[in-house]
Amino acid sequence: MVLGDAGGRSVRRPARIRSSTTHLRPGLLVAGRLPDHRIRVLGADQEKKSAAEAAALLVEDGMLVGLGTGSTVAFLLPAIARRRVTVRCVATSPRTEEAARALGLQVESFGDIDRFDIAIDGADEVTPDGWLIKGGGAAHTREKVVATAADRFVVIADSSKAVPRLHGPVPVEMLEFGLAATMRLISPVTLRDVPRSPDGGVIGDYQGSIDDPGALAAMLGAAAGVVDHGIFPPDLTADVFVATGDQVEHRVLRSGR
Ligand code: 5RP
Repeated sequence: MVLGDAGGRSVRRPARIRSSTTHLRPGLLVAGRLPDHRIRVLGADQEKKSAAEAAALLVEDGMLVGLGTGSTVAFLLPAIARRRVTVRCVATSPRTEEAARALGLQVESFGDIDRFDIAIDGADEVTPDGWLIKGGGAAHTREKVVATAADRFVVIADSSKAVPRLHGPVPVEMLEFGLAATMRLISPVTLRDVPRSPDGGVIGDYQGSIDDPGALAAMLGAAAGVVDHGIFPPDLTADVFVATGDQVEHRVLRSGR
C-alpha cells in the first residue's frame, strides 16, 4: 500500500528549481521558441532531477551504494557527488560506471560486495502499490540483482512513470542459446534492436497484456532461457520518489530490511 512519507510530507524543491520549471510552462514561453514536445521533455528532465536530488539526500557517509541506469540516474550521480560523502558504489551498467567515476565517485566491482545499504534507480512504470517495470535501458537483470541485495531500494521517477497499473511492454533478457524456442515459450515477444547486455544476453520485450503482474512475473521467471525480466514486485522497493511539476512525492512502501 502506498503511504505518504513518514510524516506525510512532500519534499519541496529548492526555489531555484521551482522557478526554472515555471519558466518552462508553455504559457510563459515566447511563442514559437520551443515545440510542445520539447517543452514536455524539458519538464520531464526537471522532474527527474528533482526526484534524483531528493533521493540523493538518503545517501550517507560510509554507505555501500548501488547505482541504477538511465536518464534519471544521470541526475542522481552529480547529486550524490555534490553531497561530498565518502561512499563505495557498484554500477549496474558500464555507462553508469563511467559517469560515476568521472564525477569522482568510487566505483567497485560487485564481486566482493554482498549487500548494499541503499540502491537508487529509475523505472519505466511504477504503480501506486509499488509494482515496477524496468529495463527500458536494457539493464534490468543487473538492476534486479543490485535491488535485491539492497537494504533499501529507492525508485526515482518523473510523473510520466506513475501509472495506475502496469501496461508494458516488459523487457526480457534471454540467452542466445535456444533463442527462438525461448521466444516461442513466452510469446508474444519482440527483439529489441540494441546491443547485447554486458553479460551477453539478448534483449527483447514481452508484448502481451498484463492482467496479473505477479502471475506474469512468475511465468517469465520460470521460462527456461529467460535470464530475467523487468517486472519488479512491490516487496523489493522501500521508497519511491515521484516528481510532478515542482513537487516531489515521497512514497514509503516499507522500512529498510
Ligand atoms: C534501465 C532502466 C531505467 O531505470 C528505466 O528505463 C528508466 O529510464 P529513464 O530514467 O531513462 O527514464 O530500467 O534498464
